[in-house]
Amino acid sequence: MTLIHEAALMISLRYATSSAWTETVLTDFDAFLLDHAGAEKKASGMAMSMALHYADKPDIVSAMIDLSIEELDHFREVVKLMTARGLRLQKDARDAYVNQLRQQLRNGRAHYFLDRLLVGGIIEARGAERFGLIAEALPPGSLKDFYRDITRSEDRHRDLFVKLAANYFDQSEITRRVDELLDFEAMLVRGLPHRPALH
Ligand SMILES: [Fe+2]
Ligand SMILES: [Fe+2]
Repeated sequence: MTLIHEAALMISLRYATSSAWTETVLTDFDAFLLDHAGAEKKASGMAMSMALHYADKPDIVSAMIDLSIEELDHFREVVKLMTARGLRLQKDARDAYVNQLRQQLRNGRAHYFLDRLLVGGIIEARGAERFGLIAEALPPGSLKDFYRDITRSEDRHRDLFVKLAANYFDQSEITRRVDELLDFEAMLVRGLPHRPALH
C-alpha cells in the first residue's frame, strides 16, 4: 500500500455531511462563495504561519509555502467567481469549526506540532468531503468542474499533512491522536447548524 493510500485511510471522517447541508448551500450560493473565499484565504495564512513557526524544519517550510500559494490561488479563483456575480469581498467571519478544532491543540512543542499537522489534515479532509458534495450537486458546467478540481486539491492537502507528520512521529502515535481528533471533529460537525458556508 502506498503512503498516500495510508494517509487517505488514516484520516477517514466519522460523520458524513447530510444532504440537508448541501441543500442549504445551494439555496444561497452567493453566501457560500463569500464564505469559501474567506476559508481559502485563512488556509493560505495558516500555511504561511506554519512555515514561519517551523523555520527549523526544511520539509515543513517548503511544503507550507507551496500550500500557502495553492490556497491563495484557490482564493483568487473564488474571488473571480464572486466578481462575475457582482459580489464583493467581506471581512473574515468567525469560523466556530476551525476555532474549536484549534482549541484541541495540546501544549508542548512536539504535541503541538503533531496536533497542528493532524488538525490541518482533518480540516482539509472535511473541506474535500463538502466541496465534493457541492461538485456532485451542481449541474454540468464550469462551476461543477471548478469544485471537482478543488475537491481533488483538498484531498491532496489532507495526504500532505499526514505525510509530513510521518516524517517526525511514529505511526502508532499518529494513529492514536488521529483517533481522538476524528471523534472530536465528528461530534463538533454534528452539532453545528447548517449554514450556506463550508462549516
Ligand atoms: Fe483550498
Ligand atoms: Fe487545502
